[in-house]
Amino acid sequence: MSFDSEVLNWKYSNFFENKSYKFNKNDILKILSKDDIDEAYNVISGWDNYSPTPLRSLNKLSIKLNLNKIYYKDESKRFDLKSFKALGGAYAVEKVSKGNKNITISTATAGNHGRSVAWGSQKLGLKCKIFISEYVSESRAKVMRSFGADVIRVKGNYDNSLNECVKQSEKNNWQIVQDVAWSNYKLVPKLTMAGYSVMMKEISNQISDKKISHVILQAGVGGMAAAMVAGIARYLDHVPKIIVVEPESAACVLESIKAGKIEKITIEKESIMGGMSCGEVSLVPWEILKNSVDYCVTVSDDYISKTIKFLANSQFADEKLIGGECSTPGIISLISLSNDNAIKNKINLDENSNVLLFGCEGDADEELYQKLLNSN
Ligand SMILES: Cc1ncc(COP(=O)(O)O)c(C=O)c1O
Repeated sequence: MSFDSEVLNWKYSNFFENKSYKFNKNDILKILSKDDIDEAYNVISGWDNYSPTPLRSLNKLSIKLNLNKIYYKDESKRFDLKSFKALGGAYAVEKVSKGNKNITISTATAGNHGRSVAWGSQKLGLKCKIFISEYVSESRAKVMRSFGADVIRVKGNYDNSLNECVKQSEKNNWQIVQDVAWSNYKLVPKLTMAGYSVMMKEISNQISDKKISHVILQAGVGGMAAAMVAGIARYLDHVPKIIVVEPESAACVLESIKAGKIEKITIEKESIMGGMSCGEVSLVPWEILKNSVDYCVTVSDDYISKTIKFLANSQFADEKLIGGECSTPGIISLISLSNDNAIKNKINLDENSNVLLFGCEGDADEELYQKLLNSN
């Protein structure tokens, strides 16, 4: 099957318009403040080997979809950690530890957040305990160990690993650096989001005077998506249409937007997009997302390996790009939305559109990446 006839058949699973949409810059910046955002940029841009990740142009795909531009923020180049998560966990470790060398940091993770926390702890000479579920690959565990962390495997899913992390941390007086908020735990997740917002600062410099018309944001618990919304409020002088994409099996943001309140969902089948396979939107992101997201869309796992291959074989851009599983849903949803004329008209996707996508991770899980790249 040719590339054209292949992608022209791609379909999204679900689409939902947010009836409570009411983007308000000031309200957003009350939740993640300008000072929090600016402080994160000042600290992170001072780290050794910091440089902005490239903003690629998916020029071949934009011609195919008849859009003006498709920008792709390539986080495979983020430090040596190969995902945007490098910006969040490590920054929170630095802020939480406040120069204290005698503390132990702990976290639960699907992989990339833990890698960032382990890296940040190692940079500061701190001990680090990482809790992972049975679904996190050994190849991801190995990388965290290479940053000096103690990796503890817990039976069950991500929630089980988080419960165990909280239990052991309370018992041993470890400092939890989690990217998910709960009722009396909001400061650290806010710090991780402030770290992520560095991406939008870089993008605002990289697009110069161009206007982004649409942005598609991947969501797990919503931290990254909400941080980008806050970055839009802080750095852009216009408001693009904001679309959140999730795995069809873990649409916790879509279901919450539909219900007008946080809805916990049951994940029947874990998505290959492991970092996005989350059953409940986090509290702080929810406060930002509930009125700022225009549309939610979900995608199946069916097109992930093809998208990884098309990125790697320069079918979307002039360059060969390394995008891992969580880098694909932005592209998949954009193609599928473009294949539906009614939706395309509704959301004003046309030849004047400049769409921003996030290539959230590279081959962060090298084994899975190779498997997906080499599958049919
Ligand atoms: C690798 C990875 N992990 C996790 C996430 C989800 O981030 P969050 O849980 O902050 O929504 C993403 C993207 O959305 C991702 O690409």
